[in-house]
Amino acid sequence: MVPLRDLGLTCDMHSHLIPGVDDGSQSAKDSILMIKGMSEMGYKKLIITPHFMTGFYNNTADGVRHALSMLKEGVSRQDIDIELDVAAEYYIDYDFMQDLDKKPMLTFGNKMLLFECSFTNQHRNFDETVFEMQINGYKPVLAHPERYTYWHGATSLMHEFHDRGILFQLNLLSIIGAYSSSVNKAAMALIDNGLCDFIGTDLHNPNHLSLIENAMIPASLFEKLSKLKLLNNSI
Ligand SMILES: [Fe+2]
Repeated sequence: MVPLRDLGLTCDMHSHLIPGVDDGSQSAKDSILMIKGMSEMGYKKLIITPHFMTGFYNNTADGVRHALSMLKEGVSRQDIDIELDVAAEYYIDYDFMQDLDKKPMLTFGNKMLLFECSFTNQHRNFDETVFEMQINGYKPVLAHPERYTYWHGATSLMHEFHDRGILFQLNLLSIIGAYSSSVNKAAMALIDNGLCDFIGTDLHNPNHLSLIENAMIPASLFEKLSKLKLLNNSI
């Protein structure tokens, strides 16, 4: 068995480490604890992605940028050597569709836009929404495709999505089996098919952090993950 942390990822592009803006970190103290832990695992850059979901998390770009600047002040006092930036994890709802051609979205890298879907039902306008992202110049990055149970086993559909330019971000927690065995199995199938462009933590709380810090994975899986053409360290 090999420590998961030895994978050598230096940039994470999916986490909920800004306190008070979503269901992630509950306090500045927890945020700093998690950011310190990520730094100790070798991460140099964290792109924090608060949920944007109408009716649940009514975040705005200015609001999360301001919250990040406050967090940065706290982090700098702790002398942690890490770069912090903010993007978003957009839930594809009506407002998201409306905003796409009206205002600049929070992205990372080269206009990469992280989005998530319902966990229970496939979005009726999924194809149209992806197309809207693309014609507005964004590169869609689907958050944790392995967690949508309605797509479990749909390997050819996943290839089709990927061929159409949707990048896939898998969760480290799925890879270590922290959600369920079916999600773990779906993650392995995507990895075996080379359908993994980013591996993110989707870190919400200190419990997630300790699961990642202490995870040991089989050497064969470690080798497979090492061979993926991940984009993490290029953004
Ligand atoms: Fe997330």
